[in-house]
Amino acid sequence: MSNIFKRTHMCGVLNESNIDEAVVLNGWVAKRRNLGGLIFCDLRDKTGIVQVVFNDEIPQELFDKADSLRSEYVVGVKGIVKERESKNPNIPTGGIEVFANDLVIYSEADTPPIYIKDDDNVDDNLRLKYRYLDLRKNKMQENLTFRHKLTKLARDYYDSQGFTEVETPMLIKSTPEGARDYLVPSRVNPGQFYALPQSPQTFKQLLMVGGTDRYMQIVKCFRDEDLRADRQPEFTQIDLEMSFVDQDDVIEIQEGFLKKVFKDLMGIDIPTPFPRIPYDEAMERYGSDKPDTRFGFELKKLNHLVENCEFKVFTDALAAGGDVRGICIDGGAAAYTRKKIDKLTELVKSYGAKGMVWMKVEADKIASSVNKFFTEEQLKEIADVFEAKEGDLILIISDKKQVVFDSLGFLRRHIAGEMGLLDDNQYNLLWVVDFPLYEYDEENDAYHAKHHPFTSPNPADLDKLETDPANVKALAYDIVLNGVELGGGSIRIHDRELQSRMFRVLGLTEEEIELKFGFLVEAFKYGAPPHGGLAYGLDRLVMLLTHQPSIREVIAFPKNQHAQCMVSEAPSVVDDVQLEELGIAVIAPVTE
Ligand code: AMO
Repeated sequence: MSNIFKRTHMCGVLNESNIDEAVVLNGWVAKRRNLGGLIFCDLRDKTGIVQVVFNDEIPQELFDKADSLRSEYVVGVKGIVKERESKNPNIPTGGIEVFANDLVIYSEADTPPIYIKDDDNVDDNLRLKYRYLDLRKNKMQENLTFRHKLTKLARDYYDSQGFTEVETPMLIKSTPEGARDYLVPSRVNPGQFYALPQSPQTFKQLLMVGGTDRYMQIVKCFRDEDLRADRQPEFTQIDLEMSFVDQDDVIEIQEGFLKKVFKDLMGIDIPTPFPRIPYDEAMERYGSDKPDTRFGFELKKLNHLVENCEFKVFTDALAAGGDVRGICIDGGAAAYTRKKIDKLTELVKSYGAKGMVWMKVEADKIASSVNKFFTEEQLKEIADVFEAKEGDLILIISDKKQVVFDSLGFLRRHIAGEMGLLDDNQYNLLWVVDFPLYEYDEENDAYHAKHHPFTSPNPADLDKLETDPANVKALAYDIVLNGVELGGGSIRIHDRELQSRMFRVLGLTEEEIELKFGFLVEAFKYGAPPHGGLAYGLDRLVMLLTHQPSIREVIAFPKNQHAQCMVSEAPSVVDDVQLEELGIAVIAPVTE
């Protein structure tokens, strides 16, 4: 006979409406206290914690069993729900407690190496090594549940819009996404490798050629790139592609999706349509192609005011074709002491900036790091560009345009964070549109596709494709939430002649085209519908909506900073026999 108590309720959802009910609960012991004739035990399952009481009215044997409980023992409890005398307002079940009349211990547990508490400040690698313990925290279970609800909603929503979920292969040829591939050796084809998909990009386009019309997939993607809070080597996309659509059609479907996500999962009405900001404007105003618009501090160009100034750093930057731009931090003068400004200067160095100029607007003068090069009048002219007032701090960077944008883009968000201006409960969704089609690669004096080579140019710019590639805009769009790129996509080229022109501008030879994208070009010969799509970073969307600092918090088993799985200890050395079968020799084992 099974000795598993048949559960009637989950711990975390019990409340006053259950008073006097007999309940059966299963879970983990979160805490146990023996107050003489009374044992209190907090019982935890994925929904939360409830207090269970063993008192002296129960048989001694049962009381002794309860006394033997330790943290993380796995138990079943039968009991009656009672109103709690001294209520605990800190937990949802704080108004009640369960008076136990039976107990089964399923498993004993060693003392856990990490403390199972939401706000425990434990080392990240330890958390990841004992992830299965970490996952017992209510916060983690809530995150996983939220993620589940979101994927379910995505499937239902796109289904209602005529999308079909189709799985695409995981062992594929390298995709043109631009990061490094994870390679998988082929034993039956010695010396040859598959790549794990950086995204299903080429296959979803083939599905359009195959008549699937509207495709969606919740799919793992793999990219071997430097890790950050919002980047993992394997992550999940909600991937979409549609036939017979233009940019507005794709955007409209997505706005419907996000509106529903916010309404159904957060109870929030978000206004649609979302603002659309052209890429150039996003860079000019925010120094970023994923602007956070929850606060001001917009960039201003100062070139015209400093072109004839005495300060060589500015004039040299201008002479080299660069820019002088700044931001104004309202009320930042007092908060940012010299020491703190020095720290900011250090931080922008990682964006390529060699230095930073500051100005503080005071009651009777403007203090600045470049006073001796500027007259009071000149400094005031600069301050006026920002409409700066007493107490404001102006930070200026002069360098190559991209360095200026990157540095100031970083600074405005960093400072907003330090000043507590990033309100997690404000959701500023926007589209960045009109991306450049090409990106200039200075080192190789060549143009690369900014998205991928199948991204359609804006038809209005077709005549500039060969003559002025730098100024050709793409039919590409990114969806941005509070300064994070949630997703991106484009209308694709379906016209063979245009695709050939695109490849020519990119300097691809016939052999290279054949080698990299031959199968897609071939497919397009047989009738490709006009099509376009988009992919969301699912992890990022869940991270933002659950207010987590990193996507690791919303992935059950994420990798650490060194792309290692701490639970299973992957990657790892493999048997020589395995390598031999694959025809692979490891030349130099990589050591830290
Ligand atoms: P893209 O490369 O912009 O587009 O990726 C789409 C979205 O995926 C998320 N993302 C990541 N999330 C976590 N970790 C990573 N390493 C990571 N890299 C990307 C981001 C990003 O916006 N095939 C195209 C889409 C298309 O054109 O339809 C693509 O993959 O949120």
